[in-house]
Amino acid sequence: MTPTLFDPIRFGEIRAANRIVMAPLTRDRAGPGQVPTPLMATYYAQRASAGLIVSEATQICATGQGYLDTPGIYSADQVNGWRRVCEGVHGQGGQIVLQLWHVGRISHVSLQPGGVSPVSSTARRAKTKTFTARGFEEVSAPRALERSELAGVVADYARAARNAIEAGFDGVEVHSANGYLLEQFLRDSINDRTDDYGGSIENRVRLPVEVLRAVSAEIGAGRTGLRISPVTPANDAAQDSNAQGLFNHYIERLAPLKLAFVHVIEGATGGARDIAPFDYAALRQRFKQGNEHGAWIVNNGYTRALASEAIASGRADLVAFGKPFISNPDLVERLRIDAPLSPLVQATLYGGGAAGYTDYPTLGATVAG
Ligand code: PHB
Repeated sequence: MTPTLFDPIRFGEIRAANRIVMAPLTRDRAGPGQVPTPLMATYYAQRASAGLIVSEATQICATGQGYLDTPGIYSADQVNGWRRVCEGVHGQGGQIVLQLWHVGRISHVSLQPGGVSPVSSTARRAKTKTFTARGFEEVSAPRALERSELAGVVADYARAARNAIEAGFDGVEVHSANGYLLEQFLRDSINDRTDDYGGSIENRVRLPVEVLRAVSAEIGAGRTGLRISPVTPANDAAQDSNAQGLFNHYIERLAPLKLAFVHVIEGATGGARDIAPFDYAALRQRFKQGNEHGAWIVNNGYTRALASEAIASGRADLVAFGKPFISNPDLVERLRIDAPLSPLVQATLYGGGAAGYTDYPTLGATVAG
């Protein structure tokens, strides 16, 4: 039987009721201490009919923060806040993994503990802005991490993964995309190190592979996923000189771990799907080698028709939707009956309270109201 978007699927320890994933979406609504709030629990519970929710990007340590009011997973209060989120989603029959994030150089001194420089693979500043208490500001110049500090970064990821499981998450997704820390190591357009974490492809994948190994060892590969964006220009990430070779090798190195899933952003994040040529099938084939039950999740600009085709053809196991999930908490039902989708209100995307967050109606409420 040809699978559809609405058929259940199991991968690793995850049991998804359908093939529709809620993509990670930064909403900047964490409370003081970067603690998830009860409002965030409501927001995620409203969207629990997704086969799998990937949480908004969540910093693994204080230096991993790059935007105002994003949540963390490194303090006891944060773990307790997330516990309510997980209970809310599980109470509605959903599954949720936490996205583990370190922004690297996409940050500002005002967001760093003690006002120090953000850290990266490089000391070169990114040409982009972030959102601080003063509004949009140029990111700060980073400090290149010392080689001796890298084991501590890996340990921070492992501890964050442990915290996520303690909070009740079904797993984690390691954020290795969109020009943040791990991509700052992967791409030769950013990484200018002269030690064994820079230079060759082998060296540039070293830190991300160490992170995935440590997280898998901590919580199990069946609870561990990865997000990549091989050609995105997001956050001033210029193209790697050999993106295909880099990502082919990265996925080959990870294959023995038998991760639960890989979640790939095809093209420019939130933009053109065809920004640069890339053979995603070559990656998928490497990932599936000896791990045929690992799930391949695709993302970026999928419509109902494109998503159905991706599942039916076997090109993908699940499809992640981002913005449509913001304005359609019942996106799965709307896709099922091919109902119209509510439009997104741009002004309430980042920060604020319930408006444009937990007040988007479901179809039933729209019809009844
Ligand atoms: C953002 O806050 O703009 C953001 C966060 C995480 C991403 C991409 C964008 O992966």
